[in-house]
Amino acid sequence: MGLNVVIVGATGAVGVEFMNVLERRNFPIAQLTLLASCRSAGTTLRFKGRDVVVRELTKDAFIGQHLALFSAGSGVSKEYRQACVEAGCLMVDNSSAFRMEDGVPLVVPEINPGEAVKALQKNGGKGVIANPNCTTIIALMALAPLHRVAGIKRLVAATYQAASGAGHAAMVELQESTRDFLDGKPVVPKVLPHPYAFNLFPHNSPMTANGYCEEEIKLQKESRKILADDSLRITATCVRVPVLRTHAEALNVEFHRPITVEHAYALLRESVGVTVLEDRASNRWAMPTDVAGKDNVYVGRLRRDLSQDNTLELWVVGDQLLKGAALNAVQCAEVALVGKLAANSA
Ligand code: A2P
Repeated sequence: MGLNVVIVGATGAVGVEFMNVLERRNFPIAQLTLLASCRSAGTTLRFKGRDVVVRELTKDAFIGQHLALFSAGSGVSKEYRQACVEAGCLMVDNSSAFRMEDGVPLVVPEINPGEAVKALQKNGGKGVIANPNCTTIIALMALAPLHRVAGIKRLVAATYQAASGAGHAAMVELQESTRDFLDGKPVVPKVLPHPYAFNLFPHNSPMTANGYCEEEIKLQKESRKILADDSLRITATCVRVPVLRTHAEALNVEFHRPITVEHAYALLRESVGVTVLEDRASNRWAMPTDVAGKDNVYVGRLRRDLSQDNTLELWVVGDQLLKGAALNAVQCAEVALVGKLAANSA
């Protein structure tokens, strides 16, 4: 048996990864339909060694489909939600459109897999699973195993975020602006608000009234929803750095109950989807170049915060396009429709 699967935003940075992940994990597909804007209609993309033609997204595209993986921005998700759900097609949405909506499950399958099936429940299921923000998924993959044991009281996060979070065009901008910089040409930003080559800047998501940008607010609100704990205190400074597709995060975590560094390492070593990578003696820790293209979230540099009791520091690195987006979404679909969470390829 196979499922009819639609990718909305197939030509984008996440869209292409949806295809790679579906193929790699041998997701049971009867038919794959690729959709994007009219700009891409007629182009082809490779799936399982064959060319598949990209079609323009229309409201009738969901009829007869079982699963739609959306990554074409919030506006598109909002516009096409009704057509998708009314066609009886499960929507797994990578945008922020519905993440905080009551009744829409916000799922990281290693953490709250039971939520995924709620999307399809007869009474009250909304037919939508929201894929969390990439920075939030990557942080929580490392934090949830520790939270279960010691209870997180407060998180202070500093993030180092890749271009891919701003889409394919931002990745191209990073490459082209780096070339221009090295050629001595002026670097003119088009997609991102500031010159990107050999530079970094506070995250470019919209600023809110309290001085936090939306990305920082997402980490706070989405973490509370996923961990089902409204008492979590979270503050963050999110920064865009000139890296193509892998986010890094420095996390300072205060716990309600004592937890040793050794215990935290042991918990992380046995966590599904997490790899501990470090060589303390040579000061070598996971870097974006180690983790790009990897399914797992990599952690290390665990140490006791010398300035405060019950507090650990840790370093977390994850591929923004995989666990931060496409992989997590496909895993949600596996849990909801296929009934299993297949093993990652580490
Ligand atoms: P297209 O390539 O035709 O513009 P990214 O996140 O990398 O920027 O990719 C965004 C994805 O969303 C692309 O596949 C893009 O298609 C698609 N997209 C953007 N706007 C629309 C729209 N109005 N209708 C359908 N797909 C859209």
